[in-house]
Amino acid sequence: MPATVAVGSQFGDEGKGKIIDFLADRADVVVRFQGGANAGHTVQVGEDLYAFHLLPSGVLRKRTMNLIGNGVVVEPAQLLKEIDETRERGHPVKNLRISDRAHVVMPYHKILDALEEKLKGNLGAGTTLRGIGPVFEDKVGRFGIRMCDLIDPETLRAKLRAIVPIKQRLIEAYGGDERLDAEAIFTEYAAHGERLAPFVIDTSAWLDSALRRGKRILFEGAQGTHLCIDHGVYPFGTSSDCVAGAASVGAGVGPQFLTDILGVAKAFTSRVGAGPFPTELEGPIAEHLRERGGGEYGTTTRRPRRVGWIDLVMLRMSVRVNGLTALALTKLDVLGGLDRVRACVAYRSDGETVKEFPASMRVLSQCGPVYRDFKGWPEFSEGDWIGIAKKGRRALPETTRKFVAFIESQLKIPVRIVSVGRSRAATIGR
Ligand code: GDP
Ligand code: IMO
Ligand code: MG
Repeated sequence: MPATVAVGSQFGDEGKGKIIDFLADRADVVVRFQGGANAGHTVQVGEDLYAFHLLPSGVLRKRTMNLIGNGVVVEPAQLLKEIDETRERGHPVKNLRISDRAHVVMPYHKILDALEEKLKGNLGAGTTLRGIGPVFEDKVGRFGIRMCDLIDPETLRAKLRAIVPIKQRLIEAYGGDERLDAEAIFTEYAAHGERLAPFVIDTSAWLDSALRRGKRILFEGAQGTHLCIDHGVYPFGTSSDCVAGAASVGAGVGPQFLTDILGVAKAFTSRVGAGPFPTELEGPIAEHLRERGGGEYGTTTRRPRRVGWIDLVMLRMSVRVNGLTALALTKLDVLGGLDRVRACVAYRSDGETVKEFPASMRVLSQCGPVYRDFKGWPEFSEGDWIGIAKKGRRALPETTRKFVAFIESQLKIPVRIVSVGRSRAATIGR
């Protein structure tokens, strides 16, 4: 039974939460495999809007199990808050398990995130301040605390006694005045561990048996390909691998199961954070893209998102590094009401045509977009879009279909899902 991996193919916030929730009605398991509470995945059910940071987006589907894999970094207080809030809204959250190998975000990671951002100056990514960089530094540096330690008071205390003084020196070296108290951190985190313990299992072993029983598994990527630590806009991206291959490592399953790789892409581009952005727009069209369809403001930080036209240079690279087999194209409704819609097909730099996304941020910042122009389509109400979605792909305006067909021809993969609104009903395809 092949598993589906859904990953962001741009700079994050492509609508992964919506697509995962949509697909989760036919999935037995949804698995987060990287990132942490820097993610903000929006799911709309009826009139209710949910923003998940650590909970997988299948959690509202009672029959679907939701796993937080070993590749995720868990901020305990944030996860507990999400569990509590979701329960208060009528969902029991009994369908959650957390990997015993997942690393834990500690208070000093958040302190160091803020200090490092300040010291980095122009190299700062404009992080979400969730401690993501420092917790992954600790994972690789082998200073990390894992879920199996969090739920084992003796080990937790011993590790904190060794690690906290080192972190205190680092904070001071960075010019910070925060004081860490190992015993106070222990008391707080041991209590979090006690509450989370019932959820903690060996998720890799659990998944293996689910796969063998033919269960349908959906892997939920966070961030996006161009924020990936290996393939993204280094150093302006995030600290985890965000590409499809990371699902194997971050969930502890063999790569042979990952045969259906769905890239989630917006019909335009958005970016929250720093770094070059070749198709970035300012002025009335940027305002249009930002304000329509609920507004482009960070789900985690509420920062206004930078916006621009769809960039097929970026997406071609995403097809390659993820091995995308299909695309879910979101927010086509948001482009409604524009006379002309554009798609970037290449860059120009120094009189040369650039077809591959450059590694160097200096080179990227010199790249200007080469556009293909398309006639726009009308602005419809949410209800009208849902009506169109009910009738299927052929009911889309011809201009919209031409735009989608062009994207397919450039990327050489099918657009399997088209999303024209936040709700489940505003979705075409599977
Ligand atoms: P994620 O991080 O990839 O899950 O995306 P976010 O949830 O951070 O941001 C996507 C935003 O777009 C959310 O507010 C969604 O509710 C919204 N959204 C998703 N798909 C569509 C769509 O097709 N049309 C409109 N108008 N909004 C959408
Ligand atoms: P989802 O899963 C958009 C960006 C931050 C910053 C950089 C590094 O909702 O798509 P970090 O806190 O990870 O160290 O920040 O990455 N970033 C995101 N942008 N969507 C996200 O997640 C993001 N997660 C991180 O803005 O530029
Ligand atoms: Mg988001």
